[in-house]
Amino acid sequence: MFDVNAVRNDFPILSRKVNGKPLVYLDNGASAQKPKVVIDAMTEAYSNEYANVHRGLHYLSTVATEKYEGVRGTIARFLNVPDPDNIVFTTGSTEAINMVSYAWAAPRLQAGDEIVLSIAEHHANIVPWHFLRERQGVVLKWVECDENGDIDPQAVIDAIGARTKLVAITHMSNVTGTVLDVAAITRGAHAKGVPVLVDGSQAAVHMPVDIPAIGCDFYAITGHKLYGPTGSGAIYISAERMAEMRPFLGGGDMIDVVTRDTVTYAKPPLRFEAGTPGIVQQIGFGVALEYLMSLGMENIAKHEQALRDAAQERLRGLNWLSIQGNSATKGAIFSFTMAGGAHPHDISTVLDQRGIAVRAGTHCALPLMQHLGVGATCRASFAMYNTVEEVDALISGLELCHELFG
Ligand code: ALA
Repeated sequence: MFDVNAVRNDFPILSRKVNGKPLVYLDNGASAQKPKVVIDAMTEAYSNEYANVHRGLHYLSTVATEKYEGVRGTIARFLNVPDPDNIVFTTGSTEAINMVSYAWAAPRLQAGDEIVLSIAEHHANIVPWHFLRERQGVVLKWVECDENGDIDPQAVIDAIGARTKLVAITHMSNVTGTVLDVAAITRGAHAKGVPVLVDGSQAAVHMPVDIPAIGCDFYAITGHKLYGPTGSGAIYISAERMAEMRPFLGGGDMIDVVTRDTVTYAKPPLRFEAGTPGIVQQIGFGVALEYLMSLGMENIAKHEQALRDAAQERLRGLNWLSIQGNSATKGAIFSFTMAGGAHPHDISTVLDQRGIAVRAGTHCALPLMQHLGVGATCRASFAMYNTVEEVDALISGLELCHELFG
């Protein structure tokens, strides 16, 4: 049984007030709040168990290394990946996708080769590919969404041509909340011999992710959206693709032997993890994932579907609100504009006066915003600790905005 009130009690920040009002935190798509178990685990790691990892033979280094390396197994379990060595630690999805661009794609792609992307990508899954376009003439091929925000898997598969070397696609839009059928896309891409990278930054927070069922080659997740610390994250990389990658950043920990004239590299995944890593961040991330697994991702998904349904029904009832994306596979992320042209920043400011936190702007997804024909939107993005009462608070805040600006 998922008890939202018990979950809320696990998050200290949720009991604070903002502008004299109880906090209604609906900016989870940007970053989620942290449960006390994560905060405590990080304090404990710094207070009692801190040293560098993989380097010392002394007691604290051994303890820190065991805890840190244990997180690889936790991430693997969270993603249903059998071998933790397929998990590379990163500082988040941005680093992960840049790693794939630099270490896998750059040495393999020639001028005129193509990468297929959807229009719903976050800049983190666009700009690393633009680097390849700018530097080596790689062509970006875009697949559009329909008026509901849906992306037809077949349209992605049909966009794959003889020169396509990669499909890089989000699992869930951070603007419309649309969930893409990445398993169908991967099946179709693999049938044409093309690897698939999935940006799981948003999706992994809201639903169980089963990498073997998806079958993709790369799957990036980010810790701070998964109730963990900033600067934590990981990418799943299949053994086949890992073997094709050149090293990413160079430095300590990723080497085997260094001489004046030569260097040999550590075995993966360490080969891709140069320098002192975010030790305590990853330890905190591991605790966040254990916490999520103890609640059950299926249970979290069910609770959030109920929130989505409630929010969708009430928001659609406001006929002066225009919601971007009404996909049947939508998660609990709502981007909207208000008739009369109220600026999203003004809406956000009025909501903030009532303790309600939303994001206003273009959400690091400019190609999608251009495709949708909107300059900026307000976005309410829900998490497992949100309630139907908070949906009501949002609605009454928006009604006030309509009175003020409508
Ligand atoms: N990617 C984050 C968002 O969607 C920052 O807000």
